[in-house]
Amino acid sequence: MTHRPEFPLPAVLAHRCGGRLAPENTLAGLAATAETGCGGVEFDVMLSGSGSPVLIHDETLERTTDGLGRVAHTPDDVLFALDAGTWFDPRFAGEPVPCLDLAAARCQALGLAVNLEIKPSHGTDTETAERVVRRARMLWAAAPASVLLSSFSERALEVAASVAPALRRGLLVGAVPADWLARCRRLRAAALHVDYRHLDADRIAAVREAGLWVVTYTVNDPERAARLFEWGVDCVITDRPDVIRPPSP
Ligand code: G3P
Ligand code: MG
Repeated sequence: MTHRPEFPLPAVLAHRCGGRLAPENTLAGLAATAETGCGGVEFDVMLSGSGSPVLIHDETLERTTDGLGRVAHTPDDVLFALDAGTWFDPRFAGEPVPCLDLAAARCQALGLAVNLEIKPSHGTDTETAERVVRRARMLWAAAPASVLLSSFSERALEVAASVAPALRRGLLVGAVPADWLARCRRLRAAALHVDYRHLDADRIAAVREAGLWVVTYTVNDPERAARLFEWGVDCVITDRPDVIRPPSP
């Protein structure tokens, strides 16, 4: 078996900053996750119309903010004035779309490790990865092991490998493609991030035997998470950081 270093992040990460506890991809989510005792988060990073890395999932603003139109066409002064909290609950009214710098600082203050998902808007894979990864390299210069980059975009991961080889990368997939190992090798990825519905004990064993970490999303049922840990997954991304627990040592 290929040597497999220990997974450097906590075994449970809150999805989109705070899962179901707070509006997605917000600083409020980071605080809510830290309060549960969960030690890390996953979040999505895209470029604003000003070219700034910001935390947001969709390419358009309508679902998670009170704005309209495309993130990539929205300059920072407009984007950062939007309300990204009320759609989730009026208690979070005024919660902003955070820039990556602010989110990184808050994670470091709260002691949260990060799986940073590079989420390029359509056709911007190279530029998004260049800007986001350069920024991440600077923001986590003192603790590069506490951030794991991931993306569905292989182009983004290729760029990440060249911009910041010291930051580890995971290839994100839904189902596992037949040539998963060749893809991971080409990208020098340390992890494969898979939708849990496409994982079973054999698949997990094969990925582990290749020396890769297995990260899975989005697991919200504690019994399912326990089974996935028994099968050997290294990390579960969840909307329920309040109930999903790492396996006991
Ligand atoms: O990184 C795991 C998960 O976040 C990928 O899907 O759509 O929630 O970003 P999505
Ligand atoms: Mg994501």
